Amino acid sequence: MSAPLPGSVDDTLAMLGSAGYVGDRELATVLFLSLKMRRPLFLEGEAGVGKTEIAKVLAAALGRRLIRLQCYEGLDVAAAVYEWNYARQMMAIRLAEASGTGGNRDKLEADVFSERYLVKRPLLQALEPSPEGPPVLLIDELDRADEAFEAFLLEILSDFQVTVPELGTVKAAEPPIVILTSNRTREIHDALKRRCLYHWIDYPDAERERRIVAAKAPDAPVALTRQVVAFVQRLRGEDLFKAPGVAETLDWATALVELDAVSLDPAQVSDTLGVLLKYQDDLAKVRGLHLRHLLDDARMDVTTP
Ligand SMILES: Nc1ncnc2c1ncn2[C@@H]1O[C@H](COP(=O)(O)OP(=O)(O)OP(=O)(O)O)[C@@H](O)[C@H]1O
Ligand SMILES: [Mg+2]
Repeated sequence: MSAPLPGSVDDTLAMLGSAGYVGDRELATVLFLSLKMRRPLFLEGEAGVGKTEIAKVLAAALGRRLIRLQCYEGLDVAAAVYEWNYARQMMAIRLAEASGTGGNRDKLEADVFSERYLVKRPLLQALEPSPEGPPVLLIDELDRADEAFEAFLLEILSDFQVTVPELGTVKAAEPPIVILTSNRTREIHDALKRRCLYHWIDYPDAERERRIVAAKAPDAPVALTRQVVAFVQRLRGEDLFKAPGVAETLDWATALVELDAVSLDPAQVSDTLGVLLKYQDDLAKVRGLHLRHLLDDARMDVTTP
């Protein structure tokens, strides 16, 4: 069942909340505007801060189909837009030859280059009409694709149309709702950014992160959640190769609940640190001199209002 687009920033915030996403006003505003102005939304931020989740939540809340294009180095038109099913085409040709109907070459060619033999990939799927309204198109981790693909995407995001030479042009009657994400391993070109509204998703502050844990790991006791969040927030202030994202906070809270923890103690924190930090250098650094300090500081953050 599709739902109407939110009518205001407050509605947008409420819509995110009802789908379990704890957003802030800035995000709700840019999301509301991107829906209203029908402009793609370009989200950047560190890993695990909830970029991909926004597209999922949006599709669920609006009752739209979610179409995801995961980007990677070497991603090309065949994987992103369409390709012909050569195996089936060959089979059709062989069968036509064997049955003696292969003589009419024009007819055979038109037949094997018809929609039946077209494999539609995410970008083409996103241009087709859906009964519940335009889908949410998530173009995830665009920074991993190469620049040639980015240039191609620019074209699609301008016209929302694709030409299949053998078949003709497919144009979206209504453009899809487009969310692009990047972890900023490289800069995305200005030309593409210009077509989008932009939002940087930062790590949440402690209050918001507690609300995220309460929404996503509801089994964690309140006192434990406060300590977990305070500790992670302190950890992000350290000079680490890779600071923990919200995803790691959630994993850690869940792990500690599994271990029946009700509060943080140094030995348990040290034993479970691999849930938060995924680089040996970071682990060694924190386990070394720092851990007790960090824990004391985190406990202080919890007791001081
Ligand atoms: N504000 C939020 N409200 C609710 N859940 C959140 C929020 N932020 C992050 N999460 C949760 O954190 C996890 C990671 O989010 P997500 O995968 O969207 O991060 P990401 O920014 O796309 O990370 P990556 O860059 O690694 O792909 C998900 O399980 C998501 O539900
Ligand atoms: Mg992601």
